Amino acid sequence: MSPLPLEPDDDNSTNPNGAGMRKGLTSYGDRGFSLFLRKAFIKGAGYTDAALDRPVVGIANTGSAYNPCHGNAPQLVEAVKRGVMLAGGLPMDFPTISVHESFAAPTSMYLRNLMAMDTEEMVRAQPMDAVVLIGGCDKTVPAQLMGAASAGLPSIQLITGSMLTGSHRGERVGACTDCRRYWGKYRAGEIDAEETADVNNQLVASVGTCSVMGTASTMACIAEALGMTMPGGASPPAVTADRIRIAEQTGAQAVQMARDHLTIDKVLTPAAFENAMRVLLAIGGSTNGIVHLAAIAGRMGLDIDLHALDRMGRETPVLLDLKPSGQHYMEDFHAAGGMAALLRELKPLLHLDALTVTGRTLGEEIERAGPGFRQDVVRSANNPIYPQGGIAVLWGNLAPGGAIIKQSAADPALMEHEGRAVVFENAEDLVTRIDSDELDVTADDVLVLKNIGPKGAPGMPEAGYIPIPRKLARAGVKDIVRISDGRMSGTAFGTIVLHVTPESAIGGPLAYVRSGDRIRLSVARREISLLVTDEELARRAQETTVVEPTAERGYRKLFLQTVTQADKGVDFDFLRAPDTVGKVPRA
Ligand code: FES
Repeated sequence: MSPLPLEPDDDNSTNPNGAGMRKGLTSYGDRGFSLFLRKAFIKGAGYTDAALDRPVVGIANTGSAYNPCHGNAPQLVEAVKRGVMLAGGLPMDFPTISVHESFAAPTSMYLRNLMAMDTEEMVRAQPMDAVVLIGGCDKTVPAQLMGAASAGLPSIQLITGSMLTGSHRGERVGACTDCRRYWGKYRAGEIDAEETADVNNQLVASVGTCSVMGTASTMACIAEALGMTMPGGASPPAVTADRIRIAEQTGAQAVQMARDHLTIDKVLTPAAFENAMRVLLAIGGSTNGIVHLAAIAGRMGLDIDLHALDRMGRETPVLLDLKPSGQHYMEDFHAAGGMAALLRELKPLLHLDALTVTGRTLGEEIERAGPGFRQDVVRSANNPIYPQGGIAVLWGNLAPGGAIIKQSAADPALMEHEGRAVVFENAEDLVTRIDSDELDVTADDVLVLKNIGPKGAPGMPEAGYIPIPRKLARAGVKDIVRISDGRMSGTAFGTIVLHVTPESAIGGPLAYVRSGDRIRLSVARREISLLVTDEELARRAQETTVVEPTAERGYRKLFLQTVTQADKGVDFDFLRAPDTVGKVPRA
């Protein structure tokens, strides 16, 4: 057995096995000694020279007791390692930050960029020729794609997969659309505390990500549409054999990518982002998908053109019949053929020449998936769930930089609406007053919540799903127009205007709305307007002192000083690519 060469190598393009363990050496001022020392340490773990001379595949392991959406991470890591070794590589798993929606305060979005930085720097710092990114819960996949895009190595995403659905008193349930529905019933007094406790046991029936088309499922589909997963990698549930097989294939493909030097910039092209936007619209995906796509694109020097996205939306029907826009769950989508079934229907609207991690184009992968079969989860283009894309972009004097509404999950009766503003100054104000019997509110009013944008909260929490005031809920009101500069969970539904840009905390027009003002929402005209004159708005801006939030130290200080607005992905300004090279979708 020949020993691992003692020559360092930072350029794996000259070595068919990649630079592997000889790559990215620690600085001691003597590169030969650096490699000698590294070998000594890794041999302490029992590796042979033959193992150490293989292409190295890093595996970003985001398993955490605080993240049940990644509860299958140990099995996935094992399967990825098997795939890497079967293909002749050396697998090296390493931990990074893991962020779960319910276990991250003040909000998981506050930590997404930290996870992206962790991923980027550990991929860059440690010797590897390719990286497998294991992610699933909402913020983890975008964080990993952002970090990997900046690190620039051959990279492949492995999704943890969705949870199974449960059953409550004969009704199929799943997180988290049904979590909100049952909580709404409890608030309205329709079910008692005992039933609420019962359903709490059934909503999350296994480890894995939320079972509807929330942000996690959206990002899984987007990752596959971007060409960043193995074909069929978006839909297998977390606890299935299909998911484990995808993991093994992912490991094997990562070795091939290392050998072919198939770096992430060859996959994350403008065409790939346009395909991802098309899929986001066609799946009735989470509004958060726009923010995350903008952040990932920003790492490649690309801006998302919201006007063009809206135009795409008008010609892209929602085809996927999943909650909250439809009725099925992710496991049904998988049984119906997964992304291949959807991509086949969308084919005329896609860039089929976009390269994927397999080294083949998206069009070739659609062909390889074969013909479809009869199923009722992915509709045909002439029988859609919703005739336009799930997301519409709004403009007006209330949102000069744009705002978003998920029209496929909104009440059609409210999408052309004018009403009186009922204003909450911030999240605390909302909590204090929303359930008060004294609150002056009717079902025709428009609820406005300020200061939950990127800097305001901070971290742009999913508080945009403002609860129906208790007295209206008890009277049977199911929806009301709501407006904020925050986000909402992809599992939520309602006539809810989000991502108002610029946010109120930095003096956006939302800051100057007062209770009693009239607000007009017209989704047909893509309008969100405060019905006061420009002069009045300017006068209010002059009268009001907006104090931007600051922090004394630490990550919070970095966050508040550098976070961008929703249209730039809420990324840190210094993490974007230094040069902007274009817009997506291209005109
Ligand atoms: Fe993790 Fe929903 S909480 S995917």
